[in-house]
Amino acid sequence: MASPVSQFVTRFAYGARQLPRVAWYVGHSLVMRRLSENVRERAGTSVRPRAHTDAPIPKRNRLYADMARLFAQDLANVEAGLYPLPADHDGTLPDLLERSRLFFSDLPNVHRRREGGDVLQVLEEAARRSRPAYYLQNFHYQSGGWMTPDSARRYDTQVEVLFYGTANAIRRQALPPLHECFTGRDQRGLRLLDVGCGSGRFLDSCKQSWPRLPMLGIDLSEPYLEEARRHLRRWCWLNLAVGNAEAIPVADASQDVVTNIFTFHELPPKVRRIVFGEFARVLKPGGRLVVVDSLQLGDEPDYDGLLELFPQNYHEPYYGSYLREDFGAIAAEHGLTHVRDTNAFISKVMVFDKPA
Ligand SMILES: C[S@@+](CC[C@H](N)C(=O)[O-])C[C@H]1O[C@@H](n2cnc3c(N)ncnc32)[C@H](O)[C@@H]1O
Repeated sequence: MASPVSQFVTRFAYGARQLPRVAWYVGHSLVMRRLSENVRERAGTSVRPRAHTDAPIPKRNRLYADMARLFAQDLANVEAGLYPLPADHDGTLPDLLERSRLFFSDLPNVHRRREGGDVLQVLEEAARRSRPAYYLQNFHYQSGGWMTPDSARRYDTQVEVLFYGTANAIRRQALPPLHECFTGRDQRGLRLLDVGCGSGRFLDSCKQSWPRLPMLGIDLSEPYLEEARRHLRRWCWLNLAVGNAEAIPVADASQDVVTNIFTFHELPPKVRRIVFGEFARVLKPGGRLVVVDSLQLGDEPDYDGLLELFPQNYHEPYYGSYLREDFGAIAAEHGLTHVRDTNAFISKVMVFDKPA
């Protein structure tokens, strides 16, 4: 049981780290909205049909209350010893300002793509040949798709703006089910694989909890892996490699834990099944898969309208089918047991076990 003083210090330190982050990204979101309205007013009528839903959309107060609940859970996890007081490693003020500049400077291109529906990234022939067609798109209308250094530098600002500064806190909700797996075991003998690791923010949280646990992150994007290398340079026992989730470059039954964060909604239904099969193949018997991704329809009924609007405003060609996907059934097809789902603001954590 922590003393009142150490509890106060933890809570104060947590608030001092998280509140300015939320203010920073909510501020970006408000400025972005104002800029978009200005551009729309100047351009006159849009050729694009207005995003529409008949389903309920949560009011701003509800969103803020649910964000507060997420942060309270994050802090409760810290106080319960499930992970240490988190560090987001956002960099120095000049780093933040540079990422902010990159974010805002791309908004006119995002707007043009949204209006024109131009979403097929032009790539060098070599990159095109070695990557699946579904991958070579401008998800979220972002410039460069997944394939440029600027896109990789911009990504985390985009995600945090979209999630009002909660993205890292959401990712951390995958740590308690990992804690259940790792408790009482020598971390040096375990293996964790993060598939579609992107810029490495989730691996950073894992390393803060289990610094000596060997971890591997794979992703199809070299520039995102380069950004992950830069972000994760403080850690050892960590490898990052180019790899396709459809053919994971590791041996059968070699991983204690596989994690997958914010990726399934960007995969076509057929590919989701192949990827699940790969997760089942590489997990050891008794191993655990933890997936974090968007809420689905009905998980939080008051959010259904928000979920339906998202792919109308951002290029997310597979999100509609993701919203209705039965992950428990896919897991069962591959011999994995669906343990539980836990909602985390606009996302959820799905836990699956491979029988021992
Ligand atoms: C929305 S991002 C999520 C990144 C990261 N997991 C996070 O927490 O932000 C999706 C990531 O999945 C990667 N990706 C998409 N399809 C993939 C595939 N078939 N194999 C490997 N990585 C893939 C993309 O390159 C991108 O980095």
